[in-house]
Amino acid sequence: MADRSRTLGEFIIEKQEEFKYSSGELSRIMNAIRLAAKVVNYKVNKAGLVDITGAVGQINIQGEDQQKLDVYANDVFIKTLTNREIVCGIASEENDDFITVPGCDNSHSNKYVLLMDPLDGSSNIDVNVSVGTIFSVYKRISPIGSPVTKEDFLQPGTAQVAAGYVIYGTSTMLVYTTGHGVNGFTLNPAIGTFYLSHPNMTFAPDGKIYSINEGNYIHFHPGIKNYIKYCQSEEGDRPYTSRYIGSLVADVHRNMIKGGIYMYPKSSKSEKGKLRLLYECNPMAFIVEQAGGKATDGVTRILQLKPEELHERVPFICGSKNMVEKAEEFIAAAQNM
Ligand code: AHG
Ligand code: MN
Ligand code: MN
Repeated sequence: MADRSRTLGEFIIEKQEEFKYSSGELSRIMNAIRLAAKVVNYKVNKAGLVDITGAVGQINIQGEDQQKLDVYANDVFIKTLTNREIVCGIASEENDDFITVPGCDNSHSNKYVLLMDPLDGSSNIDVNVSVGTIFSVYKRISPIGSPVTKEDFLQPGTAQVAAGYVIYGTSTMLVYTTGHGVNGFTLNPAIGTFYLSHPNMTFAPDGKIYSINEGNYIHFHPGIKNYIKYCQSEEGDRPYTSRYIGSLVADVHRNMIKGGIYMYPKSSKSEKGKLRLLYECNPMAFIVEQAGGKATDGVTRILQLKPEELHERVPFICGSKNMVEKAEEFIAAAQNM
């Protein structure tokens, strides 16, 4: 039963006591994210009333149209974290290069870097559909007190210390893990407080939902095409139902609650898929695994991939364990044909 009287702030303090030699740095990061999420939530909720929908007329490093809210959310998270000097570096989907937080090489001794997709699913803003924020925290590997380096950001997902997402949906939720399970908090907008509404979130091993952009079907590789046919065939508990919002956060969140599989595979149009390893796949994979699910690029566990570039993309399949394993079987069978 959810203990809806426990706030996120209280939960963060309790959890800090569980980490033996904790300096409170991670708790301060979580508190800053909580604050930035409320600020972005306030703005997202007013979309349509104030002039924040639509594109800014700029293209980001990924070659995508930046939306006004992409830029706004990026600024809010960066400012909230840098003003408090609680991380030493930040990498964002919306910035070409990583940011060195001023003072990290002399005046403060922070040991964490943060990576983020400040606004996920941004093409959905203009049509009032759920969007999100995704974040991921690592311990720097370069020496404390020196400037951060690219290597601090290019660590495999297994090295994540914390990861989470905010979903700005019919209600706003913050879901996160520090490697001890996954907990979800719902914002009470009247008083601006997140309450623990979804303790110990878990993926059922099986589900009945498959989520993929089927408009790309003709470009998919045979293994994925065959798996889609399997999902649609009438046998056992199938056909499954198809649900695709087009915001990774919202699609994975729904699947975690209901059981299901999410896929953004490679295709003949894009051999690396679309989603970004550092800002989207690694944090979501950490959460999915912590909730008992699985995340793969079709062959390899996402968290074990060694990143080579900040903005690199990878094929991404995640969700209920047995469903993901079945998809992997189809992919392997097609490769051996
Ligand atoms: P972003 O808005 O951060 O660029 O991410 C969009 C991503 C992801 O949220 C979503 O699952 C996917 O793009 C949808 O892509 P398609 O429109 O190609 O299906
Ligand atoms: Mn995204
Ligand atoms: Mn984004």
